[in-house]
Amino acid sequence: MANSAQSNRWGENGDDRRHTSWDAGTTCSKAVLGDSDIENQSSNIKVYVRTRPLSREELNKGESNCIHVSHDEKSLKVVEQGYGYNITTRSFQFDGCIGPEVHQQDVIKKVAMKKLLDKVLDGYSSTVMACGQTGSGKTYTMCGQEENQLCDIQGGDNGLIARSATYLFEAMKARGQNVSSGPKPFIMRASYFEIYTEQVNDLLRLDNAPRDVKWSSRDGYYVDNLLLVDCDTLDDVFSVLNEGSRNRKVGSHELNKDSSRSHCIMTLHIDSLCQVADDAPPITRYGRMLFVDLAGSERLKKSKSSGEMLKETGSINRSLFTLGKVISALSEGKKGDVVPYRESLLTKLLMDSLGGKSLALMIACVSPASSAIDETLSTLHYATCANNIVNAPAVNLDARDKIVLKLQREIAHLKEENHYLRSKLAEQNIEVDQFPSLGSANTPPSSATKRVRHSSQLPKSREKLPSELKGMEKYFSKDSTGSNKELAKELSGLSVFGNFQVTSFS
Ligand SMILES: Nc1ncnc2c1ncn2[C@@H]1O[C@H](COP(=O)(O)OP(=O)(O)O)[C@@H](O)[C@H]1O
Ligand SMILES: [Mg+2]
Repeated sequence: MANSAQSNRWGENGDDRRHTSWDAGTTCSKAVLGDSDIENQSSNIKVYVRTRPLSREELNKGESNCIHVSHDEKSLKVVEQGYGYNITTRSFQFDGCIGPEVHQQDVIKKVAMKKLLDKVLDGYSSTVMACGQTGSGKTYTMCGQEENQLCDIQGGDNGLIARSATYLFEAMKARGQNVSSGPKPFIMRASYFEIYTEQVNDLLRLDNAPRDVKWSSRDGYYVDNLLLVDCDTLDDVFSVLNEGSRNRKVGSHELNKDSSRSHCIMTLHIDSLCQVADDAPPITRYGRMLFVDLAGSERLKKSKSSGEMLKETGSINRSLFTLGKVISALSEGKKGDVVPYRESLLTKLLMDSLGGKSLALMIACVSPASSAIDETLSTLHYATCANNIVNAPAVNLDARDKIVLKLQREIAHLKEENHYLRSKLAEQNIEVDQFPSLGSANTPPSSATKRVRHSSQLPKSREKLPSELKGMEKYFSKDSTGSNKELAKELSGLSVFGNFQVTSFS
């Protein structure tokens, strides 16, 4: 974890990752990007609830456990003891519920984190967000035990961030195994910042200068001038995590002796090379894994905050209130300017994760103590709303690469159609030469297209056409997929083509 070893590798600011120098034309692992990767597909935010064990203090105070997770871990019950024998039970269903007996090492599996991580290696953005009341276990879930929060490779108490990073390195190694030469197929960098009283601080460069939040059409809202650390090894990620965790604003009050006073976002940026065609240079996909550890909501009456902490609490509660408004609006299906993203830095920076093009996972942490039941119900209410939010994940590509990719796909599609139609003509012993505008089968599509465009000469060869095909030259004078469709339709009506399937071009 030597800082000295790291300091010379720690590069400046995020923007340079757009110009990562992959050598064009070098062959790396071949990856396939489907239409659905570029055109967004919808996916609900996945929500898991984790309940921690009662703490020693809570047990000493005689608190009872009010949360019961079902056997199949899909639902939980909150039992409220009223006056006398009056008991109210409320049930909630989520993608998963994690009971107090579940160990740290099993959480990554329970929340299906690997799916999200694999998607990051495919160029998607993924977010995992821990929310809930102060002292409910958010930081423990993301980072591990406070007293021993410094991660190490063997750490049995490591949180989700350290375990995810471990998995990512294993997966990158496995995927890169058949890459023998050329540039590295993956480049990982990390950033870590906090939002403290509506101000963004870089946790990896403590110069006390708040960072600006800016907007770009590719990245949406982002933090400007943030330090991005090259992470060639797992140790590098752990160093970033430990350094950032050390620099977080924490305070001590009645509800948690190590209460996080800021919202923290650690991001692993993973640029991956993708060879989409043998004869084309690889394109770069910009995967991002966001780990969000929110500061907890707290009731002043219970936390007994005062002085500077009182101000912090006000700011924390205000930004969480805005987060709640954004979640409510999105869960009701609202879109665009009606969603109050711009009312806080937190919601601006989570715009892509909530209702955007990121995959997202929420871990709502709750305390089992009966005295915390109001906050628990409030957290479960927001978690239920978040579960209704639909995101539209898509691979992050440069605009230019997106266009190139779409054109490449269209060319491949047209080639396929062309080949199919030719084979149909050949079955009927009709020479392709009779259609001079089509060129030969091996003509590259671009020049074939050109020749088709100049097909005003077609009438000259018209005499050679079999009578059944006369009048159809017009279809060869277009160069769009549509022309092939029309041609296919007409061909299907001709007896010579028998049971020709028009739908094969839809
Ligand atoms: N699942 C758990 N198992 C054991 N201890 C836990 C668990 N979750 C939280 N804790 C303990 O509870 C305390 C508060 O957790 P913390 O993560 O700091 O809360 P938060 O970040 O939500 O304010 C810490 O001492 C932590 O170690
Ligand atoms: Mg915390």
